[in-house]
Amino acid sequence: MEQRIGLLGCGTVGGGVIELMRRRKQRLQSLTGWEPIIARVLVRDVHKERSVSLAEDMLTNDPDVVLGDASIRIIIETIGGIEPARTFILEAIARGKHVITANKDLIALCGEEILEAADAAGVTVLYEAAVGGAIPLIRPLQESLTANAISDLKGIVNGTTNYILSKMTETGADFDEVLKEAQDLGYAESDPSSDVDGLDAARKLTILASIAFYTRVSLSDVEVTGIRKITARDIAYAHELGSVIKLLAVGTERDGALTLHVRPTLIPKSHPLAHVSGSYNALFVRGDAAGDLMFFGRGAGALPTASAVVGDAIEVLKTMRQPQNGGYAPHPRPHKPVDQERAESASH
Ligand code: NAP
Ligand code: HSE
Repeated sequence: MEQRIGLLGCGTVGGGVIELMRRRKQRLQSLTGWEPIIARVLVRDVHKERSVSLAEDMLTNDPDVVLGDASIRIIIETIGGIEPARTFILEAIARGKHVITANKDLIALCGEEILEAADAAGVTVLYEAAVGGAIPLIRPLQESLTANAISDLKGIVNGTTNYILSKMTETGADFDEVLKEAQDLGYAESDPSSDVDGLDAARKLTILASIAFYTRVSLSDVEVTGIRKITARDIAYAHELGSVIKLLAVGTERDGALTLHVRPTLIPKSHPLAHVSGSYNALFVRGDAAGDLMFFGRGAGALPTASAVVGDAIEVLKTMRQPQNGGYAPHPRPHKPVDQERAESASH
């Protein structure tokens, strides 16, 4: 049976999501019991060339065509930024649709509002792709590691700045030239100053810290310094000291007090984080029971990010499973909706 999905945005990430869903069509079906179909795609410019082929009637620049379509029960948001993404997501939730988003700006700033609206409406909102691209971080912290008191988060959570610093280190290239490469590769935000000035990493740290430290962290709690002022000379000095410069996001909890910062940091070449290069991200986590853990993988780009988005889509589709297919709800915040949906499908 078909499950129609509305995709908001079809740029780097949205295009990757369509491509990966096409590649994994059979698996999605056998895993979830549904045949997921991207039915409508909202963009700004319907005439623009896309990385994926789309039937003309799928594309629209009218949000009501997607959000107002009652047959669409899942929305995937890949527009980015706060508005209009926030309004679209809240409207989707109010209309009883499940939401998957890659939007860390929005989750860092309005996550509480969105998750509360989702709880009230009895729908699921998942955002694994918002932090660390392909690396599973949100669900491990929310689920597998939840029995731990986490004391430390430390890592590289922005692919663009890591790409820039790595390239400057490897080739001595100029900052602006390498930033342009990161933009062409689809790693940078539409306004790359949020990458370069450390804000993107700070938003990701806000999200990770809220989950890991089991508390409410806001962006203003994070002290932020970006990499704009790092020169080829700084990188050469670091090399002479046997180190590299990385933009680190760090959160520590000591005796109930949290310290959170994002800043360029000298890392000895012998340290594992010194070897995380290009668009790769890595996160070190220390838990009282688990001990030390290190997560590593591609932090940006079309397919790595789509990997996390489509993983979330599979989770949502599973919660929508029909009882006759062995329905279950693996999401950590089981909702009324699952029961509602089961009741609905049972009554049909
Ligand atoms: P992008 O390439 O700039 O794509 C944005 C898409 O949204 C475009 O298709 C654009 O339409 C559409 N759009 C923008 N404003 C719109 C509006 N007002 N109404 C309708 N459609 C609108 O961005 P992206 O790199 O895919 O990033 C999307 C989201 O994923 C962001 O939240 C970003 O932070 C997050 N993310 C990105 C990456 C990455 O590696 N790029 C990784 C993880 C998370 P047009 O195509 O017609 O212009
Ligand atoms: N601009 C972001 C980065 C995309 O470079 O890490 C992935 O969140």
